[in-house]
This record gives sequence, C-alpha cells and structure tokens, in this order.
Amino acid sequence: MKLANIKKAKKLLSKRECVAIPTETVYGLAGNAYSDQACKKIYKLKKRPKNNPLIVHYFNIQRLKKDCHINNYFIKLYKKFCPGPLTFILNLKKSSEISKIITNNKNSLAIRFPRHSVTRKLLKILEFPLAAPSANPSSRVSAVTSADVKEDFGKKIKYVLEGGKASIGVESTIIDLRKKPQILRLGGLNVSNIQKILRKKIPINSNPLKISSPGQSKFHYSPGIPIRLNAKNILKNEAYLLIRKKKVNKSNYYFLSKKGNLKEAAKNLYTTLRKIKKKRYSSIAVCKIPDKGYGKTINDRLLRASRFNEKTT
Ligand code: TXA
Ligand code: MG
Repeated sequence: MKLANIKKAKKLLSKRECVAIPTETVYGLAGNAYSDQACKKIYKLKKRPKNNPLIVHYFNIQRLKKDCHINNYFIKLYKKFCPGPLTFILNLKKSSEISKIITNNKNSLAIRFPRHSVTRKLLKILEFPLAAPSANPSSRVSAVTSADVKEDFGKKIKYVLEGGKASIGVESTIIDLRKKPQILRLGGLNVSNIQKILRKKIPINSNPLKISSPGQSKFHYSPGIPIRLNAKNILKNEAYLLIRKKKVNKSNYYFLSKKGNLKEAAKNLYTTLRKIKKKRYSSIAVCKIPDKGYGKTINDRLLRASRFNEKTT
C-alpha cells in the first residue's frame, strides 16, 4: 500500500474534489460529506437523480456519533460486522453538518464503515466522512477494479485510489434501523448472519418490482444489453451465464464459479457482465441460480438488470 497515494487522495478530497476509492464491496465515487460542492460533483459525474441519497463512509463509531443517533440494534451489529459490508439507515442529528444534497433534505442517513485497508487509512486521516455511491454511471454495473472505474469515467474523475479487485464484489447489505429493523437491499452480508445476532427474523423489503425507497430502482446494475433469466436454451448471438463450469464449454459460455460456489460467483458477477458486454453479444441468457445465501443477492441484481429490457423497448 502506497502512503503517497493515500496522501494524494486526501489532498484532492480536502479541496472538495471527487476521488474513486476501493472498498471490499465495490469501488465508490467519494467526496467530502460535509461539503455541498463536493456532493453536487458526485451527482453530476454519476448522472444520478437528486432524490436518490448517498451512503456516507466513516472510520468508526466515535466519528459517526457526531452526525447520527444510534440504538441497541446498531451497537450489536456494529460490534459483530464493522468494519464490513453492511450499511445502516439511521436518524440524523439536528446538529449534523452532513450536506443536505446527500439526504435530499430528509432526516435519515445511510452510513457504513468499509473494511478495505487502503480506504480505512484514508478515512482515518481525513477530518470529514466520505459520501460515496458506487463508482459507476447511474443504473449501470458497479466497478470492482480501478480499471472498471477508468473505463466508465475516463479523465472525468481526478484520481482513482488503487486497491486491487474488490474482495466481495457486490454492494453492501442495507438495513434500516430507524424503527423495526428491515432489510432494504440484499448484499455482501447474508441476512441469516444478521438474524443470528439480532435473534429475530428481519423482513426483507427489497423486492425490485416494488420500489420501497428512492434508491431501490428496479432498473439497475445493467450491462446495457437484454438479460433473460432462468434460461434453458440459448438464442443466436447470445452469451450464456452459468453458475458453474460445464463439462462442455463453448466460447459464449461464461461461468461465475468453477464449482458453483455462490460467494465466489457473487464476486465474479460484475466482472463477467462487463466482459460479456465487450464481446458485443446481443443479449445474455442466465441459467437458474439457487435462491439461497449469496445466490439471493445475485438473483436480486440480475432481476433488476433484466428489467432494463423493458426500459429500452
Ligand atoms: O457497497 C456499497 O454500499 C457501495 C460502496 C461504495 O460503499 N455503495 C453503494 O452506494 O452501493 P449506492 O449509492 O450505489 O447505493 C446506495 C443505496 C441506494 O439504493 C440508495 O437509494 C440507498 O442506498 N440509500 C441511501 N441513503 C438512503 C436512505 N437515507 N434511506 C433509504 N435508502 C437509502
Ligand atoms: Mg450503485
């Protein structure tokens, strides 16, 4: 890890510029969460609708307390899973200096403590938390390497802080803790792990066909070409996305994991979708994916991505 890179990122962020940062889930497009100017830049770069709030990234709970009210559910989950791939929706304190651009003037805030060591070093030396949505143009596939970010934004982003390939590869799980806990987005931490710690069943309110929160857009994570789910056959000029390697492999077959390991499959999902897109297939057929553990997150993302078909036709 190069300290010079982290210092360069700090310098730019302190000047209210945007910098892409690595996290264990996906790369983020970061800016000073206390600065309207920096936050406006994020929305502009991503072409993100203004009513879709951002996640703010903190170094630790002490720093968070300045901005948000916390509760017992939060403390339990923080102790067990943070830093890590879990985002919390909490109530903002009146005294908080978080930019109103991020929250769209609402009084809730999405917050997370990323585990990636490079970004933790950066957060530690900054005097402000970082607002950072995933570093991809709005509604498209997230970036899991610095090369993905550069491919999507080119020179529009001043600096991409290198952190290698994201180790989890799908976005964080989002849990709303303002009232009774509920899951708003499936993600890098399985809900069963959360349920074990809170010792109760947590409802999942992330159905992509029923938009429940501003950011739960049903058109999302799209590679830009149509996707057919649960496909048993393949059409002409179509790529075939498989969960595990087949004995017979054709050039248009793409597998997410050699042995069908769902965690590994989730990690490879976005890279594979990007790879397929570059090959100029006209569509993607996806095999049936087991709806358990990380398979649930994969199915959620692919279902949203497949809704893109309707938007474009
Ligand atoms: O893993 C991740 O969470 C990555 C990395 C960079 O941290 N970030 C990420 O951010 O995925 P983004 O902006 O692509 O997705 C954040 C989601 C959006 O669907 C947004 O609507 C929702 O979180 N969100 C943010 N603030 C919210 C709030 N106050 N209430 C409900 N949903 C919120
Ligand atoms: Mg995103």
